[in-house]
Amino acid sequence: MRVARPQRRPGRVAPPSRSVSSTGALLKLNLLVASSLDVATVLREIARAAATLMEAKLVGVWVADERARMLELRALSDDRLLDELPNRVMPFGHGALGRAALERRRVVIDDAERDERATSVEWFKARGITAAMVVPITFHDSLLGVLALARGAPFRIDQEAEELLDGFIAQSAIALRHAQLYEVAGRRQREAEVLAGLVRGINGSLDLDTVLQHVAEGAQELCQADTARIALRDAESDVFVFRYWTRAWRRDPKDLRIEPGIGLGGLVLSTGRPMRTDDWANDARIRQGQYREVVEAEGTVAILVAPVRLGDRVEGLLYATSHTPRVFSDRDEELLVELADHAAIAIGNAQLYARTVSLSRGLVEAQETERRSIAHELHDQIGQDLTAIKLLLRRAARADGDARRVPEADALSLVDDLIDRVRGLSLDLRPPMLDDLGLVPTLTWFLRRYGTRTAVRVAFAHEGAERRFERATETAIFRIVQEALTNVARHATATEATVRLRADEAALSLEIEDNGCGFDVARAGARPTAGLAGMRDRARWLRGRLVIDSAPGRGTRVRADLPAPAAEPCRAGRA
Ligand SMILES: Nc1ncnc2c1ncn2[C@@H]1O[C@H](COP(=O)(O)OP(=O)(O)O)[C@@H](O)[C@H]1O
Ligand SMILES: [Mg+2]
Repeated sequence: MRVARPQRRPGRVAPPSRSVSSTGALLKLNLLVASSLDVATVLREIARAAATLMEAKLVGVWVADERARMLELRALSDDRLLDELPNRVMPFGHGALGRAALERRRVVIDDAERDERATSVEWFKARGITAAMVVPITFHDSLLGVLALARGAPFRIDQEAEELLDGFIAQSAIALRHAQLYEVAGRRQREAEVLAGLVRGINGSLDLDTVLQHVAEGAQELCQADTARIALRDAESDVFVFRYWTRAWRRDPKDLRIEPGIGLGGLVLSTGRPMRTDDWANDARIRQGQYREVVEAEGTVAILVAPVRLGDRVEGLLYATSHTPRVFSDRDEELLVELADHAAIAIGNAQLYARTVSLSRGLVEAQETERRSIAHELHDQIGQDLTAIKLLLRRAARADGDARRVPEADALSLVDDLIDRVRGLSLDLRPPMLDDLGLVPTLTWFLRRYGTRTAVRVAFAHEGAERRFERATETAIFRIVQEALTNVARHATATEATVRLRADEAALSLEIEDNGCGFDVARAGARPTAGLAGMRDRARWLRGRLVIDSAPGRGTRVRADLPAPAAEPCRAGRA
């Protein structure tokens, strides 16, 4: 390894012209450092000053990311070559740049063609460059970057040049450090602004589309990406499709699906963790599949992806991409994850809202159905019976003596019927004993009545549930039993059913099991019916959950778990 040491050459004296121009370059840099806090400007001026000072043809300033162990080109003394340069990122340890970074020592290449540490030799040769010197820029203990100087003849460093270079590097380090700190402070402020804006949008009245578009724009800006995009799980087909982006696609993304395990997004989908690549096309971890064409068409090089997670499920993917090689930093990743969390909250809120709407719609429908059946009962049954009684009584009024008895007896028996019917109706609507006596007596009564009206034998087991619960909880349990057993009678063709109710101080669990024909729960769930959904909603309202376990041919079990704090004493003691 050729590490530059002060090479004193007898008889070699720096020409005066250099001293003069060196001093000028240093002065200019000094001035700039004092006046500019813009990182890009500082870096460019460092590159230019170094070119003058060290008589280099081309100088690049590469900034180090010590955690990612990567160098990234951030400025060139000749702007025109910026887009042409073959490499703009370089891992620590690789080539002359990477070695200077890794070993924190100066690396000198005298003849690129014969030096294994040289990279992109042909490209440089075509531009008259065959020699290089790479100098690490450190500040206290951290490596800020490296300065890469290149030209057509080997660098020879005498004592004077050595001192000049040392001073220059020290000054560059300070300048770079200040500018970076300033940049970080500015970025933090902007991050806080963007994130606060999103929170306002989510809490305010903005619709989901607007919020997610803001999230994508925020991601592009905060990660300093060329594009940001969001793919979401499609509720119906369960596949991931792109829904939001900050920049027009070169080809229509309509047919683009993200599959688990394929592409970077696919990896994030299967691992649930954020991931990044600085060079998608050459990243061995990535299975390219159908995306190769897309990535080429879009000119995508570096990608950072964060999962949009709702609970333990990935509902979306947030992408930040770059068209030039670059290293997305840990900070970029943190930011993208935070933005993805905002997206998740917005999606969660929207789902909640949609569910509340459908819940109240379901409730209104259920109420309507109930009213219709009451109206039907009142009109067809009770109304007819009353009409019949009226006719009978009228006939009795017109008759004398014994002739009155028959219509009177008929009327009486109709009145008895009527009384039963009205009591049944009122019990179905809400058994008063539920409020007066609580769950176990009410269910015992209900199940007995159910047994006499259907061909299903029902067993009832209860444990610890004899105490009182909150009214909403008691109602929910009763309604769930009512609905589940109505379904058993209506759909299951079962001969037996069991109701189990178990409670401790904190929770209540209910099971209704039948030995009937069973059904495909997923398919039944796809059809909007009030019964099953209503049971689930009741459980959810009380912060509990309801699970239906069934399959064609093996019976059905409905299980509800509800939190069940003890009811307040005043209610429990009520008559
Ligand atoms: N215990 C059960 N046994 C068999 N099939 C059932 C049972 N419970 C529900 N199902 C099926 O699930 C469907 C949806 O039930 P539900 O939401 O209560 O609507 P509905 O009772 O009005 O049809 C029923 O139509 C039936 O096919
Ligand atoms: Mg039903």
